[in-house]
Amino acid sequence: MTATRGFGIDIGGSGIKGALVDLEAGGLIGERHRIDTPQPATPEAVADVVAEVVAHFSWEGPVGVTLPAVVKKGVAHTAANIDPSWIGTDADALFAKRLGRSVDEVAMLNDADAAGMAEVRFGDPLARTGVVALLTFGTGIGSAVFLDGKLVPNTEFGHIEVDGHDAEKKAAASVKDNHGLSYPEWATRVNRYLTVLENLIWPDLFIVGGGVSKKSEKWVPLLEIRTPIVVASLQNNAGIVGAAAAAVEGIEH
Ligand code: BGC
Repeated sequence: MTATRGFGIDIGGSGIKGALVDLEAGGLIGERHRIDTPQPATPEAVADVVAEVVAHFSWEGPVGVTLPAVVKKGVAHTAANIDPSWIGTDADALFAKRLGRSVDEVAMLNDADAAGMAEVRFGDPLARTGVVALLTFGTGIGSAVFLDGKLVPNTEFGHIEVDGHDAEKKAAASVKDNHGLSYPEWATRVNRYLTVLENLIWPDLFIVGGGVSKKSEKWVPLLEIRTPIVVASLQNNAGIVGAAAAAVEGIEH
């Protein structure tokens, strides 16, 4: 029997959020629980908060957890916007131990990959066919690429070089906030970024997500690119939903 309930946790730069997930409807069951990300966000400190979030729900099943990093076989390999001590950390082993579970009961994956998995399963049906790239605009830029619904993990397209710069340093949503850019000013940067990316990977569809997708009407209509664009439908909960799905499906990269 396939589980209909799961549990996902999304680890971000400012908050660690977890919730019970309805894996048939693709939504949260009840409220999510959020705790500020500890500073410094070392693996041990984050593991304590993850354990607190799981305990809040008295959840005993498998747990999916996202990290804003390349994650291969449970090990974090990058740390663009998190504490550098994550690099080389076996997050799967660390969290499994802290949560009193086996490593098979904890699935670790990149945050954008998790969000993309949720969109492919529960979002716009267009996302299930062809080459689809989901981009999350937040503190950094995350990417998830799918071919006919199957994920190519850890693409890290937020770090392609655009006009001599690491793309996310110019076009992440945090840059808009930190530099007081208007939506049109920021949209010009996003447009340039998406143009460079579409010329490299020729996707059939872009899905744009991240918190800023809640205000999509202010910037998505300003984009002038070749590739069709849809706005992520699960928005801020996509990471949690995708993580829960990965835990149940036993996906580990
Ligand atoms: C990281 C990615 C992550 C993205 C969104 C980037 O800086 O390199 O791994 O998916 O931020 O959090």
